[in-house]
Amino acid sequence: MAVNVIELKEKFAELFGAEGSIKAYFAPGRVNLIGEHTDYNGGHVFPCALTIGTYGIIRPRTDRTIRFYSLNFAEMGIVETSLDDLIPDDKAGWTNYPKGVMWTFEKRGYHLPAGADILIYGDIPAGSGLSSSASLEVLTGLMLRDTFGFDISMTDLALIGQYSENNFNGMNCGIMDQFASAMGKQDCAIFLDTNTLKYEYAPVKLPDAKIVITNSKVKHSLVSSAYNDRRRESETALKDLQTVADIQTLGDLTEKQFEQYKDAIKDDICRKRAKHAVYENQRTIHAVEALKANDIETFGKMINASHISLRDDYETSCEETDILAALAWEVPGVYGSRITGGGFGGCTVNIVKNESVDLFIETLDKAYTEKTGLKAEFYVVDIGEGAHALD
Ligand code: GLA
Repeated sequence: MAVNVIELKEKFAELFGAEGSIKAYFAPGRVNLIGEHTDYNGGHVFPCALTIGTYGIIRPRTDRTIRFYSLNFAEMGIVETSLDDLIPDDKAGWTNYPKGVMWTFEKRGYHLPAGADILIYGDIPAGSGLSSSASLEVLTGLMLRDTFGFDISMTDLALIGQYSENNFNGMNCGIMDQFASAMGKQDCAIFLDTNTLKYEYAPVKLPDAKIVITNSKVKHSLVSSAYNDRRRESETALKDLQTVADIQTLGDLTEKQFEQYKDAIKDDICRKRAKHAVYENQRTIHAVEALKANDIETFGKMINASHISLRDDYETSCEETDILAALAWEVPGVYGSRITGGGFGGCTVNIVKNESVDLFIETLDKAYTEKTGLKAEFYVVDIGEGAHALD
């Protein structure tokens, strides 16, 4: 759906009044092409920003009140709080994300001189795993930075978003989602070394193919606890490996070194998790090389291998996303298909030849419903810009 910023401003004026300086901003969602569950393991990721995301309209206030309204949660009405009351609260729902960013600003010494009125609208499908929360965090950071004149880089806005998600919202995520939302570039994916935050833009030139996202429409519960478990298991594996190898992160190891040292990992599950982290990191490096060489076949094979590793070793896939990937692999003209994002539901990302896109959607639509009783959604996506002001 095309979002009309003028209409959003009108809605803002209706709710909060039309006076003063009212500014509009946007921060995108992301899809990760490859490099999954590597970002907290010192590895590489390869996400890109989407053209869907979260819109924000803001006007500073003169007191310490903050008023929030989201068109996506209209039933909550205007949620009012204060800069003096930035504590997580289940009842505060979605506003815990912007509140967490404000709390992090304060913690980092960026003292907010006043509150604000804020209207939000997001066009990322709910629960799809395309980073609606990260986009809301980056959006909030950008709005606060510009509204109150702080000197903060886009990379730091990503780090602030991640910190707030880890410490205010209790999800121990890595840096990938916020980084992609803050730093995205049109028609490029970001090859990011999460250990150093060095990055490179790699043009995604797919001469004969499109990126198609398939939404399984399932989000299994306990996502954040299962995610946090994976982090712990990876850390345990790292500690064991450090008894025999001089490494800081799992991303320091090649596949060969992993095979040499893996017996130091005592627990079988932790060994599987580490295997994924090491192999996925190396796969990501090779996939980017293949893409740069316009070798889409190899790029696609790496994507498929990533799914298998997430399914069997990291165990963050689920029945529905396994079905979607397996169906995709059978459609002629599909270069690659895999689950994308944190997992346990959400979306698959697919590289599909132009002439096969219709067949792909028809085939998966029908077979997925037959197998699961669910209705998948399909998005043929473009790669968009990182967070920015709209006027
Ligand atoms: C979620 C997290 C990211 C990353 C992915 C898995 O999206 O927010 O930091 O760990 O899962 O790659």
